Amino acid sequence: MDMKKITLIIYGLILLAACQPKKTTQEESTTYREKYRPAYHFSPAKNWMNDPNGLVYYEGEYHLFYQYNPYDNVWGHMSWGHAVSKDLLHWEHLPVALAEYQDRVTGDSTMIFSGTAIVDKNNSSGLCEGKDCMIAIFTSNTHKDNQGLMQHQSLAYSNDKGRTWKYYDKNPILDIQRKDFRDPKVFWYEPQQKWVMATVIPDLYKVRLYESKNLLEWKQLSEIGPLGDTTRIWECPDLFELPIENNPTKSKWVITLSGGHPQGPKFVGMQYFIGQFDGTNFTADDPKQPALYIDHGKDFYAGIIFNNVPKEDGRTMMVGWINNWTYANQVPTSPWRGATSIPRVLTLKETEKGVRLIQSPIAGITSLRGEERTDSITTEGSAEIELELDAQSEESGIKLFESEGEETIVGYRSKDHVLFLDRRKSGNVSFNPDFATIEEVVINPVNAHLPDRQGKIKLHIFIDQSIIEVFANDGEATITDYVFPEYTGYKAETYCKGCKQAPVFKLWKLKSVWN
Ligand code: FRU
Repeated sequence: MDMKKITLIIYGLILLAACQPKKTTQEESTTYREKYRPAYHFSPAKNWMNDPNGLVYYEGEYHLFYQYNPYDNVWGHMSWGHAVSKDLLHWEHLPVALAEYQDRVTGDSTMIFSGTAIVDKNNSSGLCEGKDCMIAIFTSNTHKDNQGLMQHQSLAYSNDKGRTWKYYDKNPILDIQRKDFRDPKVFWYEPQQKWVMATVIPDLYKVRLYESKNLLEWKQLSEIGPLGDTTRIWECPDLFELPIENNPTKSKWVITLSGGHPQGPKFVGMQYFIGQFDGTNFTADDPKQPALYIDHGKDFYAGIIFNNVPKEDGRTMMVGWINNWTYANQVPTSPWRGATSIPRVLTLKETEKGVRLIQSPIAGITSLRGEERTDSITTEGSAEIELELDAQSEESGIKLFESEGEETIVGYRSKDHVLFLDRRKSGNVSFNPDFATIEEVVINPVNAHLPDRQGKIKLHIFIDQSIIEVFANDGEATITDYVFPEYTGYKAETYCKGCKQAPVFKLWKLKSVWN
């Protein structure tokens, strides 16, 4: 064969390769090692996810259901994806639990929106085959071509530990003939031996409470709202009692919900109210209290807590969705989009400003620790960092995912007491014009009241390929953000301007939970 022919064949082969259809976004991950793929945060093997749903503990397993599109990497065909875990870190994927269906009466296509899962301990519903069973209560969203028609609450039940589900044959169980009425969260209210459901009327900024003895018939109790932040519609409410850390004889009730963001209506975020609940009414301690936000980053939304956690365990644990509706459908990950936060243990604490929410990562996460680094802090993108900053220094902190001119800075500025996360140069920020932001929250140094004013800022930072979760001062404030560094081979490096005392850090690589 002459050279000309060989060149032609090679040319032809290159052309053929270039014309091969591109991998579709639907190709399942088998490695969990794609660019930006979190190593120890939950994400679906393929396709789109948003809110965590139906968080519940049952017979040795934590269940995570989640808003899932079985067909694509953008929002649509909402169904409940499903995974189980024994330790809230290692997850086993299970088949879709609840899939889109046709409305029994109208025949309209019905998506499964957010909701709750409970264990019907005494078979109050009559739907259990044994002594108890799992029940899911979700928003049945009828629609035509993704345009919502009606939202009502419907029920499904499982008699095999959540592996298979049946839709209740008299759905919906709660219908007020409204286009927007959603996100039921149901829990057992022990003092009055009844079920309580919190829902939202999103456009009226109202949480509406219902009660039931059998999970099938519901009676309205009361409404809360509008209050706090009403710059965005309200979604995904939760209602629960929490102990006060530094006053153990006292507890308060808390409503958490999704809606407005501390940086205004361009973004969504989560807020909470503190008060009392008597089985009928939730009364906010201070209805005029300016909004209290759960997280000051952009990527913590739709968080709810686990139901049915054993009493001996006693933790109240919240899981949120890592993303923001402002750019959620565009974040540059494939073949999946969306993840959940590290489960967070919630408590309350009395502070000079009043009772406030405290969040800490579940303790078990330290079991993922690998090699500890205190010399050079080159990372592979998944690590846990403990950082102590001197609050007297002008500004100090740490640069994360630092490579080829890219960096994400987590720092503290003493003049205005601001903890910040700056992701303007974090890598790919161009997929949406609103992504390149700085997050800020005012925090006080711990020990600032001591005579020598050796105030410290304590940061506990988790980085995971594209996710950063910062817990400040033992959970007094959090910042959760996505970042999409273009280059690998990153460093994590502390810095200090107007330095009184250099930052002190420890770093552990964290192992993947997907091997
Ligand atoms: C919150 C939300 C919920 C709704 C679901 C739909 O992110 O908008 O209110 O049930 O997502 O996927």
